[in-house]
Amino acid sequence: MKKTVLVPGGAGYIGSHVTVELIESGYDVVIADNMSNCDETNYRGVCQIVGREVPFVKMDFCDAEAVKALFKKYHFDAVIHFAAFKAVGESMTEPLKYYSNNILSFTNMLQAALDAGGCNILFSSSATVYGEPEKFPVTEASPRQDATSPYGNTKKMCEDILFDSVRAYPTLKGIALRYFNPIGAHPSALIGELPRGVPNNLVPFITQTAIGKRESLSVFGNDYPTSDGTCLRDFIDIVDLAKAHVCAVRRMIEGKMEQDYEIYNIGTGRPLSVMELLNSFIRVSGVKLNWHFAPRRAGDITAIWADPTLAQQKLGWKAERKLDDTLASAWAWEKHLAGK
Ligand code: UD1
Repeated sequence: MKKTVLVPGGAGYIGSHVTVELIESGYDVVIADNMSNCDETNYRGVCQIVGREVPFVKMDFCDAEAVKALFKKYHFDAVIHFAAFKAVGESMTEPLKYYSNNILSFTNMLQAALDAGGCNILFSSSATVYGEPEKFPVTEASPRQDATSPYGNTKKMCEDILFDSVRAYPTLKGIALRYFNPIGAHPSALIGELPRGVPNNLVPFITQTAIGKRESLSVFGNDYPTSDGTCLRDFIDIVDLAKAHVCAVRRMIEGKMEQDYEIYNIGTGRPLSVMELLNSFIRVSGVKLNWHFAPRRAGDITAIWADPTLAQQKLGWKAERKLDDTLASAWAWEKHLAGK
């Protein structure tokens, strides 16, 4: 029998790509989303890619009764939880919005899963939990550090909530995937990142500048202690990242976990500087992009990249898509949005 995966937040950037990969791997998916941070573009794109209507429930995971009702209506073999706010800067000025939404939606989901007899839970965590690392690359055993933003803190807190819940309730199993910097779009250009307002993240800002929506890209800081003075990150292709979820769900559903709670880094293992990424984009797109150096952005760390060995060993996953293809997909998506 087909297994069913619930994807709260499945109409967003990562959730929509994960939904496509799950369906293409033979899973049934139910998307639940309150559409608070997206429109229907990605949901419609998902349906077009997979060639059918994907079950969709418009609901808020902060509504405990609605979450319970959802778990009564369907049997879920796994949940991949994306229903959270994610803007680092906004979380500094509106911390309560982040704590109440991100924590409550997660605990409501866990309680309903528990009441329904248990479930496999996959939590979308972030490399932000490592703070400014001292050793490179970071492994899952690298120390977590004090969060620099309420957003980052909710990631740490939800990891802890999952760990404590799995330890207390034998019917729950958990995996946390710590994403590095997800970029790019589906090769169909039908789904991708849809930032609201001015993008905070690098690649959407680059593509919006390239298409003419923004005047010039600020490269924040050229005096970091790196080879070219700009920050180093581990940019992971969104489709590769989505495939890691399928591997993790399969591991949980097939009862292959070695511990009831596991953590995996999801990155390429390759550090890339902001300038290297920018130059690659210019080469791949053929666009003459306006950019300039600007002062460092508050809160940015100098460098971080993953050791993804554990994911390769235990999940059988590794990043495969070439950077040029990833950047071309981000550019194709921006052009698709602009109707070009
Ligand atoms: C941030 C979050 C991370 C989250 C990720 C989503 C923290 C500390 N980081 O990562 O948790 O998963 O977003 O993708 O919470 N840059 C520019 N110009 C720009 C935008 C960015 O030069 O207009 C530079 C930044 O200074 C940084 C790099 O590009 O060095 C990457 O920035 P960004 O895409 O915002 O991601 P992070 O801050 O690394």
